[in-house]
Amino acid sequence: MAYNFEYYAPTRVYFGRGEEKNTGRYIRRYGAQNVMLVYGGSSAGRSGLLDLIRQSLRDENIAFSEIGGVVPNPHLDKVYEGISLGRKNGTDFLLAVGGGSAIDTAKAIAYGLAEPEQDVWELYEHTRKAKKCLPVAGVLTIAAAGSETSKGSVITNEKTGSKRAYDDNLARPVFAIMNPEYTVTLPDYQTEAGCVDIMMHTMERYFTNGGNMEITDALAEGLLRTVMKNAVILHTDPQNYDARAEVMWAGSLAHNDLTGCGNDGGDFMSHKLEHELGGMFDVTHGAGLAAIWPSWARYVKASCLPRFVRYAENVMGVSLRGTDEEIAEAGIRAMEGFYRQIGMPVNMAELGIAPSDEQIREMAGRCMAACGGHTGSAKVLTEEDMVRIYTNAR
Ligand code: NZQ
Ligand code: ZN
Repeated sequence: MAYNFEYYAPTRVYFGRGEEKNTGRYIRRYGAQNVMLVYGGSSAGRSGLLDLIRQSLRDENIAFSEIGGVVPNPHLDKVYEGISLGRKNGTDFLLAVGGGSAIDTAKAIAYGLAEPEQDVWELYEHTRKAKKCLPVAGVLTIAAAGSETSKGSVITNEKTGSKRAYDDNLARPVFAIMNPEYTVTLPDYQTEAGCVDIMMHTMERYFTNGGNMEITDALAEGLLRTVMKNAVILHTDPQNYDARAEVMWAGSLAHNDLTGCGNDGGDFMSHKLEHELGGMFDVTHGAGLAAIWPSWARYVKASCLPRFVRYAENVMGVSLRGTDEEIAEAGIRAMEGFYRQIGMPVNMAELGIAPSDEQIREMAGRCMAACGGHTGSAKVLTEEDMVRIYTNAR
């Protein structure tokens, strides 16, 4: 049965070669006077992208300031630094250049500048909701998080190790520039971790017990098959423009809510469990998801069996004749085979971490608190379930 839904995808997308040169012109349309450029370590500088963007802003006589050095699993301190810089300069528009970490930092700065009397971290602790947010846009250099069209932003409080998400339509980027050419410089590990993340954004919405629509399932399954095919191509042919383009566009569609219309909002427990790994061990988000998913899937599959069978057959191409349990298990095994094929881990040992029992309990406790009462749809998890999923993933 199709559930009621609201679909809101306001981000204007400029996709393809050369679009980054128009950045200044596109920003001009929003009446921005004072832009803050937000970026990560060195990749956007090395590729020449930052210089092109600076020039396109100058060409349009748009003033700008800059904050670089955003790290993966981006830090709250950088957000505070951006807020104080923005206050000094009168920033009225945030332009992120990079991936999820730069865009999420820009979103957090945008919230902080729009309501300067409040502590922005309260949003991520879910003790209040945002009333305002400055406009944000992104020039994407890695296909993964989907932040360029999503309502999410994820920030880590590096002092406490808490990685927390805040979702709000206020922060959906007003536009996103996506030139797949810029993603060819990605290390293979980041490309493939990105593909895992893209797939997971759709899989989180697919494995539910609440509502579904044939059109949504068809979009989801097509997207998953396309990303798998192109992830394999990019593993050996990283310069392949068409494969880069397929994956980049899939990354936005996977997380702008399109592949969840008509269901209950999805499961999202693999993500929530992974965010604790990111907070405690600073692992790459997509790789952390690959390490958790098989354990999660085996733990919950009996509670969501028809969806696991459908997934095995329509996405993983399982043609086994057997019981539903056997077909579902074959689908999970095929997924592990795919992860291995693209160099992704299937458990925490392969991810390179070895959490102790005590650390697992701590992560489960934090995850429970971060969930705010929503602990899954494929199966509603207790804290003890989370401990078991982490333990089985070792
Ligand atoms: O810092 P630089 O030098 O730019 O290097 C980055 C970084 O080391 C590098 N990189 C990016 N583009 C590159 C490149 N290297 C070479 N060539 C390029 N073209 O890649 C590394 C990872 O960058 P990051 O921005 O962290 O990647 P991603 O897009 O995967 O973002 C991950 C973050 O997004 C969050 C994750 O939890 C994580 O913190 N997420 C955000 C979501 C959202 N806002 O909706 C949803 C996701 O589920 C996710 O949780
Ligand atoms: Zn993700």
